Amino acid sequence: MSRNYLIAANWKMNGSNALVKSMCAELTPVLSQLSPEIAVLICPPATLLTAFTGVNALAIGGQDVSAEGAGAYTGQLSAALLLEAGATYAIVGHSERRQYQGETDELVAAKVAQAIAAGLTPVLCVGETLAERQQEKTQQVIAKQLMAVYASHPELLVKSVIAYEPIWAIGTGLSATPEQAQETHAFIRDTLAQLNQDAAEQVRILYGGSVNAENCSALFTQPDIDGALVGGASLKPDEFAKICLSI
Ligand code: G3H
Repeated sequence: MSRNYLIAANWKMNGSNALVKSMCAELTPVLSQLSPEIAVLICPPATLLTAFTGVNALAIGGQDVSAEGAGAYTGQLSAALLLEAGATYAIVGHSERRQYQGETDELVAAKVAQAIAAGLTPVLCVGETLAERQQEKTQQVIAKQLMAVYASHPELLVKSVIAYEPIWAIGTGLSATPEQAQETHAFIRDTLAQLNQDAAEQVRILYGGSVNAENCSALFTQPDIDGALVGGASLKPDEFAKICLSI
């Protein structure tokens, strides 16, 4: 089964106009070397979305999207606003938003539906805490997160990207091993196949959690890992470029 790849950067609450400039300069020659089935995405803070100009092969995305279409929702960003700023993707349900903003599975599901209805591709993040892994609840947690979004709307799957991000690996320098990641990616694909076999075979499943230029190649050789969602290492243009060239 051949699937396309996606290397995505999540800058979180970091970055600047200067970083946009240096990232674009670093990635321009890289993007021209990549085969067409490899896409590169940067999700900067929303204020920097429109600073990405002149690099056509680079996709940009939001780090979140509102579950509402428009209206009196101070501080939120609708899918339409993100699209107008040039975004084609939006990260949804990142563990930091689930943890710090109290986002529930139900809210995350509404955001995925809203993003797709407006024409954005959601990057749905799922993953377990360290305690859940130690209690052998990884699969149970992830199945619940996936089913909250797709059980009643399996048609959304074909327009989604999934990111498996074990919370214990985020920002810790302690990546999942390629085998650990592959095991969970295969579980995600099998779970989604119960809803729609064809869509599950095509959906891109990214790994996120302390990905860097050293560990990415081994992750990318795994059959169910279709790219990465990179945090800290995506703030270093030369390292992010290496990751893009490693797939
Ligand atoms: O969205 C990205 C992830 O949270 C991974 O972050 O690469 O800094 O561990 P990290």
